[in-house]
Amino acid sequence: MRLTLRFVLPLVFVLSVIGYAVLPLVDKLTLSWFMRDLESRSQVLASSMEQTLAELFREKKHSQIEPYLKRIQDAGRIYAIGICDPTSVLRYKTATFPPTLKCFSKALTGDPISQTVDVPTGMLQSSVFLLQGNSGTIGKLVFLHDMSFVAHRSAETRRYMLYLFVIVGLLISLVTVVVAQLSWRELVFRLRKSLRAGNVLKGIRQLRGTELAPLAKDLRALMHDIENDRRSRDESQMNWTPISLKQILKEDLSGDEVLIVANREPYSHNKKGDKIEIQTPASGLVTALEPILRACSGTWIAHGSGTADRQTVDKFDHVKVPPDNPSYEIRRVWLTKEEEAGYYYGFSNEGLWPLCHIAHTRPTFRLSDWKAYVEVNKKFARAVIEEAKTDDPVILVQDYHFALLPKMVREELPDATIITFWHIPWPNPEAFGICPWYEEILQGLLGSSILGFHTRFHCNNFVDSVDRFLEARIDRETSTISFGQKLTAVKHYPISIEWPLNPNKTKLTVSECRDFIRKENALPPDRRLAMGVDRLDYTKGILERFLWVDSLLTHHPEWLGKFSLIQIAAPSRSKISHYQDFEAQVRALASEINSRHGFDGYEPILLKIEHHDVEKVFQYYRGCDVCVVSSLHDGMNLVAKEFVAGRDDNEGVLILSQFTGAARELPEALIVNPYNIDQGATALHIALEMPVTEQRARMRAMRNLIQEFNVYRWAGRMLMDAAFTRRKARLKGRMRDSETSLLPSSIFERSTFEPNLTR
Ligand code: F6P
Repeated sequence: MRLTLRFVLPLVFVLSVIGYAVLPLVDKLTLSWFMRDLESRSQVLASSMEQTLAELFREKKHSQIEPYLKRIQDAGRIYAIGICDPTSVLRYKTATFPPTLKCFSKALTGDPISQTVDVPTGMLQSSVFLLQGNSGTIGKLVFLHDMSFVAHRSAETRRYMLYLFVIVGLLISLVTVVVAQLSWRELVFRLRKSLRAGNVLKGIRQLRGTELAPLAKDLRALMHDIENDRRSRDESQMNWTPISLKQILKEDLSGDEVLIVANREPYSHNKKGDKIEIQTPASGLVTALEPILRACSGTWIAHGSGTADRQTVDKFDHVKVPPDNPSYEIRRVWLTKEEEAGYYYGFSNEGLWPLCHIAHTRPTFRLSDWKAYVEVNKKFARAVIEEAKTDDPVILVQDYHFALLPKMVREELPDATIITFWHIPWPNPEAFGICPWYEEILQGLLGSSILGFHTRFHCNNFVDSVDRFLEARIDRETSTISFGQKLTAVKHYPISIEWPLNPNKTKLTVSECRDFIRKENALPPDRRLAMGVDRLDYTKGILERFLWVDSLLTHHPEWLGKFSLIQIAAPSRSKISHYQDFEAQVRALASEINSRHGFDGYEPILLKIEHHDVEKVFQYYRGCDVCVVSSLHDGMNLVAKEFVAGRDDNEGVLILSQFTGAARELPEALIVNPYNIDQGATALHIALEMPVTEQRARMRAMRNLIQEFNVYRWAGRMLMDAAFTRRKARLKGRMRDSETSLLPSSIFERSTFEPNLTR
């Protein structure tokens, strides 16, 4: 409508002006037509009168001439009629003939002519004709026409002409607007089609030659900027280091603040006698995220779970870490015993953990746990909002402890970029639907701008769950979900570890490590060793691993006394009865196998249920021959990657469960089904026998992959995607303020320039 008015009014105006300008011409033309008409009428009249007048003259009926003229005058709608004799004397005339007009007046002399005659009563038009009788010229017949009639008629013509122009103008405008509307629709249709096909450039080309052409230029320039920027940051060309992460933050995110929310803190302070000890937890999540915050600064918001945590914070509950070289802050959130029991042990680890891991342990869902989970998510969301110094921070939410938090934060900070990473698998919709609060969980997660999983498979399971349980718009091609006016991109980002390793982890040489661990465990120097290092968790396949050893020693007795498995198991979630039972089973099975196959101090399984610090774990990675990862289900499993990273001698063999995310990235490992005990035993045998050349070939390939796809790349890809999302949102905001609101909004939602950072 606005467009119509904007177009029609000027057009009508212009046409009216044009009409007004050409009116005098039209007027002149019509006047000349009228005069010609008058002339010919007068001519006809004069001819018809000639005979009658000749007779009246011949018969000398002079008294009848003037009445005759009067009759003709009235009948012919003529102003006045007169007859001049050949000596130019006005002999006969009607009463209206102006007395001032004489026969020798210029207007009445000459041949039959038409002229305008000025008389005091106004303007008259004369038409003069020669009157012929039988004996020659009688005189001149003079008709005087009232020109005021002509002027009136001309004014009327002008008025009609003006109306005509206005109406024509309106008609032209209307037709033009209809045609323009149709072409606009066609343009939008074609533009949409191109954009839906993901071809933004083609879409922009459609704008050429249209009202939006100047905008097309701007859009193309902007898109090119983004594309160039992306190219300059082509992740495969980048060397991913803490410095490149810092650069992304500085350039792509213009130094925006980064907040991490994770249940587990990277450093906890614990009382040991009258001293305070700092501990780093056995957590893959911490292993991955800690180097990132070191690189980017920012704040890590976590549950303050250490026994001396309260003693070590400032009045804002902050503590600077790492202790040796502080570069970021932990903001500790305090939970009551009841909150911890319901939220952490209960809903997170007795509910969601077994729900998402297919490890044949039934999830337990209690209403009281759920309520605690909701409350603690609120508490952390409040902490995030308190910590945020700007309206649009980048918030990295970690794991299944905070499924509700993204939505809660989104409601308070609508412009925040929330990247949620789900570190564990996501089950299929049937399994997920077991959770009584499936809808709230999905809605909570869809508060995120980006939702990440380790594998595409888990992304698909999530999208399928949304499809099954929510009324949301899903675009499977771009893996985006539109729910409640918000868009969430569901992407896979396989997590990794730092590369290069912190030198503290490789302080001792490989051979020093070999000697050290054999000495520490009172083992002979030639004992072949496999190792496992895990949290003491039923998903890790520790029992299965022990059964492999049992089977190996049964089927390959040549390894008796020559081979042992060292199992490091960090106690975990030990308040949960499943975990207590599991620990008892692990201990029992280890001692059963040891008593079955052990002799003279020889133990096939060395079980170490205790916390080991990182440096110690790396000594084991470097000093053992084989590393066993036999998880029954695992999002990624970073032990596998750490083992490979620790082997800078390129030796050692990794046996890896096919049910880990890592198995998709490290096919050079010996991939096994942990439930297949004989296969596991055979893998152990093959690993122990593997020639060094083959070990090296496999190890090199795996090291190359981890070097390239390290944790900086994992985080960098998410941050780059976050930066892209923010740029897109800003662009959309800018465009919304301008004329581009006319463009289909999908132009901002899909782009061929969207970084395709998948691998
Ligand atoms: O594997 C999932 C996970 O959250 C990891 O990210 C982390 O390493 C582990 O669980 C830690 O568990 P918790 O914090 O309960 O000890």
